[in-house]
Amino acid sequence: MTNTFPEGFVWGTGTSAYQVEGAWDVDGKVPSVWDTAMHSTLRTPDGTSGDRAIDQYHRLDEDLALLKDLGAGAHRFSVAWPRIVTDATGTVNQAGLDYYERLVDGLLERGIAPALNLYHWDTPQWMEDLGGMMTRDFAEHFGHLAAVVGERMGDRVAQWFTMNEPTHPSLAGYVAGFLPPARREGVAGMATVHYLLLAHGTSISALRAAGVSGQIGTILSMNGVVPATTHPDDIAAAERAEYFDGRLFLDPMLGRGHLPELAAVLGDTVRDGDLETIAQPMDVLGVNWYSTYTVASAERAAVHLAELPPRASMFLGFAPVTAGLGFAIVPAPGLPWGGAHRQLTPGGLRGALDWLAATYPEHPDVTITENGIGYPDVPYASGVIHDELRIEYLAWAIQEVADAIADGARVRGYHAWSSHDNLQYMAGFTQRFGLIHVDPDTLVRTPKASFDWYREVVRTGAVTA
Ligand code: NOJ
Repeated sequence: MTNTFPEGFVWGTGTSAYQVEGAWDVDGKVPSVWDTAMHSTLRTPDGTSGDRAIDQYHRLDEDLALLKDLGAGAHRFSVAWPRIVTDATGTVNQAGLDYYERLVDGLLERGIAPALNLYHWDTPQWMEDLGGMMTRDFAEHFGHLAAVVGERMGDRVAQWFTMNEPTHPSLAGYVAGFLPPARREGVAGMATVHYLLLAHGTSISALRAAGVSGQIGTILSMNGVVPATTHPDDIAAAERAEYFDGRLFLDPMLGRGHLPELAAVLGDTVRDGDLETIAQPMDVLGVNWYSTYTVASAERAAVHLAELPPRASMFLGFAPVTAGLGFAIVPAPGLPWGGAHRQLTPGGLRGALDWLAATYPEHPDVTITENGIGYPDVPYASGVIHDELRIEYLAWAIQEVADAIADGARVRGYHAWSSHDNLQYMAGFTQRFGLIHVDPDTLVRTPKASFDWYREVVRTGAVTA
């Protein structure tokens, strides 16, 4: 099959600061909540951590050369907040800003449009010590970060994103407690969703005040669900869960107010004017998509959960949140990455984009900001990495994007996750998502078969598989 994309469609790649930079305490950077966790209780199976990750901080030129060789027109990355603002009084670390300026300018010199994400979960420890995302002040401090970065690089960045997959740092960080700072605040922890939304709105205002020239938006994960069985309770649960992670943030961002399920528990956390602060106009909506989930009613979930293999994925950590909402994520024929509850459903990505267009006709144009597949691929003795499974997955997913565009979805770009193998959080380097293989010991970079394949996609603007 062959599919050609519209003129001007942007092909790209993506990374995030903690997953690639390393240099956790270099040139004035202070610890993030991830550093704190990795230096205390959190352990990866292979002993890797973000202390070094793939050391992109010290290997920027080599990595930029690889990106140029790939030829994609855009690259998305995140800035590490604790590299830029180093204490509660707002002290700015110029060396941190210098690094990102080198990255942005290096991309531009190679004809690659920078897409800058302000926040990919690495809250500074000093912010956590002030109460973290459980405090309203979080938004103000975040606005300061946006102003500082916007003022330094506002004339050169093509796309600005306020944050990535906010469900994770809020619900996984403060309710389910399986990501740093790993707090289990129960229902009170739902306030983090509101404060993160406030941070989103505040940072957009700060970027606009700084006069940034690029598009501004955010990045949400928007995975669909399938019911575990045809039992009416499971079907009803799947309907409740449908795109819940997206809707939770998108409704208030697009001016529709909080979802009733959230409003019911927020009480006086929400003050007059907050919803207006949150609903800032956006130019772009980043969508991350990997797979669908299988969902059962919370009551019926026990049956399915009993079938789970021992290595249950981190997403099951959401159980304390989802149970209260009447649904649960349960086992399904698994993908290599992510545990047995994630599956590939034909029409899954196309369906998500079509659903978005139908449910939120007012949504800004979409860029697929993440899509990819992770597994422990290894080099052959010859040094070649035959990641045909990745090629198969990407070809399938890109075709789904083409189908959605043909349906009328407004998708303007696609970023493969990820340019490089990187630290997959608690999984370390046992789950690799890169087009470029990275050995975490030697730090040697080796383009995989998928790198050559994606280079052709980018060159021809079409997928043939
Ligand atoms: C979501 C996150 O944004 C990214 O950091 C992560 O590596 C991928 N998905 C895969 O889990």
